Amino acid sequence: MAKILVATEKPFSKVAVDGIRKIVEGAGFELALLEKYTDPADLLKAVADADGLIVRSDKVTAQVVEAAKNLKVVVRAGAGYDNLDLAACSAKGIVAMNTPGQNSNAVAELAIGMMIFMARNLFNPGTGSELKGKKLGIHAYGNVGRIVAQYGRGFGMEIHAFDPFVPTEAMQKEGVKVAASIEELYSSCDYISLHIPANDKTKKSINYDLLSRMPKGATLVNTARKEVIDEEGLAKVMAERTDLKYVTDVKPDNYDALQAQFAGRVFATPKKMGAETAEANVNAGLAAANQAIAYIKTGDNKFQVNK
Ligand code: 3PG
Repeated sequence: MAKILVATEKPFSKVAVDGIRKIVEGAGFELALLEKYTDPADLLKAVADADGLIVRSDKVTAQVVEAAKNLKVVVRAGAGYDNLDLAACSAKGIVAMNTPGQNSNAVAELAIGMMIFMARNLFNPGTGSELKGKKLGIHAYGNVGRIVAQYGRGFGMEIHAFDPFVPTEAMQKEGVKVAASIEELYSSCDYISLHIPANDKTKKSINYDLLSRMPKGATLVNTARKEVIDEEGLAKVMAERTDLKYVTDVKPDNYDALQAQFAGRVFATPKKMGAETAEANVNAGLAAANQAIAYIKTGDNKFQVNK
């Protein structure tokens, strides 16, 4: 019997796992679960005889791919697939997929929550400010960015965006003021919400030059990936600009130092929680199960990311 392994260091909710089980077993497959593991060796062992693998931010390294003797498909239940070694998958003919859009709403809601949290002094006493009337810059107008724009508009914010992969007219149609360059976006917005993936082109791209362009009192909101930030550049600009704030769902490597120096202006969630809602767990988990099964049964490779 073909086997689907769900390997989640940060597990799905029980409801999502029950739903995944129903799909997998209903299709005549066996379900194996590896949850809350702390040793990557456990994943190497568990994946050995799996035909399909479902993960979240779990690292699917070349070693994992090598250990997986029967593996045909890996589905990242979520959007960002920087945790998958795509070259290693391709070399072994393994199809890698994500589940775009399935957890976007959860991440977008958190981004808005983080803006309010920073605007209200990290929920400490004292006079804060409102989102209404402020300029919100969406850096990458994909599934998450688009929802953040929609919610920001609901708060009375003026929405700006930069995304070279989305046609200008498509953004304008949705009431977005399209920035001509990334520099223009950062120069003009009170809030920047980051929604770019982490890849060779974007890593450390949010740098000193860009950040120092932000207007007085601006806030950078990162629900994307820590790797896209040039952490030295961030520390430098925060030291020079005592008005800037940084809130993130992906803790920087230099967080302790940032906290010590810029208390009240920097905040990171204890553990990445953008997609940690019951709804997102179900949406992404079930989509991943359906996609893995469909690929093994029929070769359906919609959402393949290593084509
Ligand atoms: C994603 O890329 O979909 C999000 O970062 C969610 O990641 P998670 O599944 O590890 O919560």
